Amino acid sequence: MTLVREADLTDLAFILPLSRDAFSPYGHYDLSIAKWFLTPGTYTFVCEREVNGKVCCGFIMFALMSEMRRGVQDEQDGETVLEIMAIAVSKECRRQGIGTELIRFARQFNQNLAAGGKPMKIRLSVAETNQAGRSFFEKRGFRVVAEAPWRYPAGQKALRMEL
Ligand SMILES: CC(C)(COP(=O)(O)OP(=O)(O)OC[C@H]1O[C@@H](n2cnc3c(N)ncnc32)[C@H](O)[C@@H]1OP(=O)(O)O)[C@@H](O)C(=O)NCCC(=O)NCCS
Repeated sequence: MTLVREADLTDLAFILPLSRDAFSPYGHYDLSIAKWFLTPGTYTFVCEREVNGKVCCGFIMFALMSEMRRGVQDEQDGETVLEIMAIAVSKECRRQGIGTELIRFARQFNQNLAAGGKPMKIRLSVAETNQAGRSFFEKRGFRVVAEAPWRYPAGQKALRMEL
C-alpha cells in the first residue's frame, strides 16, 4: 500500500538525516531544508510504501515562487511556478517507484491548485553531475531549459529543468 500525506514536525526526524545524506555531495542542505520546511508557502509531503513488511519512505518539498525569489535572473518573467526544492527517497528504498509517486503527487497538487485553469509550470534545479537525479527527472518528462547562473555550494553547475 502507498500513502502520500502532508509531513508534520515529527517527520523532520526522517527528513533531515535523509537530506544530509542525499544532498551532501552538493553542500550542507539539512539546515536549509529545516528552514524551508517552516517557511509559509512551502509544502512537504511524505510517501510511505510497504515493501516486504518494511515501510519505505521518501519526501518531496515544493513551493510556489516567482523566479525572482529563486534568484534565477534569466527567468525573471514574473511568472509563478511550482518549484521542487527537494526530493529524496531513503537509500535502501530507491528504484521502487517512490520518487515517481511523489512527482505524480506534485503534478496532481498543481492541477488541483489550477482548479480547471492552466496549471503552473513545474521547475527544479539539479546538479549537472547528478546522473541518477537527471535520469529520474527526464524519465518523468522534465527537460533541461537552462543553466542556472549560480552553482551548488560544493561547486557543481546547476541545471534548470521544467516539466
Ligand atoms: C532521485 C530519486 C528521488 C529517485 O527516487 P526513486 O524512488 O529511486 O525513483 P523511482 O524508483 O521512481 O525511479 C527510478 C528511476 O530514477 C533513476 N535512477 C534512480 N536511481 C538511479 C541510479 N542510482 N542510477 C541511475 N538512475 C537512477 C532511473 O531513471 C530510474 O529508472 P529505472 O529504475 O527504470 O532505471 C532518488 O534516487 C534519490 O533520493 N536520490 C538522492 C536525492 C536526489 O538526488 N534528489 C534529486 C535532486 S533534488
